[in-house]
Amino acid sequence: MVTLSLLSLGLLSLLGVRGEVAPNFDNCKDSFFKMTPVSGLNVALPTPIKPNTQGLEKPEKCLSAYNAASPAYICQRNGNNYYFATLYDRGRRIPLYSAYQMDIEGVPDRKGSIDNYEPQLVHPDLPPQQMNKTKLLSEIKKYNQNNGCLERSPQYRQNYKLGWSQALDDNFGSYDRGHLNPAGHHKEDASKATMTHTNVAPQDGKMNTGPWNRYEKKLKDDLSKDCSKMYVVTGVVPGDTWVDQNERVNVPSHYWNAYCCTDNIDNPLKSGGALGPNTALSNVTEYNSVTDLETELRKLLVPKVDNNFNIFNGC
Ligand SMILES: *[C@@H]1O[C@H](CO)[C@@H](O)[C@H](O)[C@H]1NC(C)=O
Ligand SMILES: *[C@@H]1O[C@H](CO)[C@@H](O)[C@H](O)[C@H]1NC(C)=O
Repeated sequence: MVTLSLLSLGLLSLLGVRGEVAPNFDNCKDSFFKMTPVSGLNVALPTPIKPNTQGLEKPEKCLSAYNAASPAYICQRNGNNYYFATLYDRGRRIPLYSAYQMDIEGVPDRKGSIDNYEPQLVHPDLPPQQMNKTKLLSEIKKYNQNNGCLERSPQYRQNYKLGWSQALDDNFGSYDRGHLNPAGHHKEDASKATMTHTNVAPQDGKMNTGPWNRYEKKLKDDLSKDCSKMYVVTGVVPGDTWVDQNERVNVPSHYWNAYCCTDNIDNPLKSGGALGPNTALSNVTEYNSVTDLETELRKLLVPKVDNNFNIFNGC
């Protein structure tokens, strides 16, 4: 067994598989309570079908997100560190949730602006770190040159490939780019790592700056008191509406949050969560039981979640 996994690790590195966008969250399991990702949340839409690929050369190598599984499991990496985990719905071009450990003691420190994108959503062979658009377009250009993907095909152009794989900064219409994992729950580099387009979804501006912002502050200032660790999962309920007519980027109907407060050896002390409609008149309902939140989410999520839908493994 050991030999086999060492062997496969060796093979994987030989093949250049690096694992930001991977088939699972193995590289960032410590973002989750008991290292257990949320189970049963199988609501992602498939990767959109390519328009017309006739006459395209090497589509399997050159098309963005070719045959890619949805959801994508993103271990959010900036530089050499992993900071949190994001389950990304490729069909709706929004994250379904981000999971992280809060920096309980740290003074919140909003670093930078939302500039980054996830290269491996475009091609699994691109670099594993989130990066800004200028840098990522140059990586796509290099990939195209190395793989003979001719940019005379519109589908192979750098901007098209990036926009096919994820929501771009100008795809949010009148909505805010609402963080799931908020910058204000971290400091320095961990805060900066939240500034990526795979960690934001279209959020009503009044909700974002009003009740949701107040709830995020309460999580940090009140609800994490007396906790040694605070495991947090913030997600969205995908909605029936889209930012634009082409149904590129989905507008969530709700934002939700669940937290698990533990002592320093991961014994649960308390847990709870919140749910609010993504509207200007949003009110955020708080729960002091994750089970109650899960019951509400079961009513809202379409298609129906699995019976084993479970945000935390026993908190
Ligand atoms: C984008 O990132 C690169 C590399 O990290 C950096 O050199 C460059 O200044 C950044 N560009 C912008 C516009 O932020
Ligand atoms: C607040 O939320 C609750 C449950 O989500 C709902 O029943 C209630 O009508 C909402 N109140 C307002 C004023 O929207």
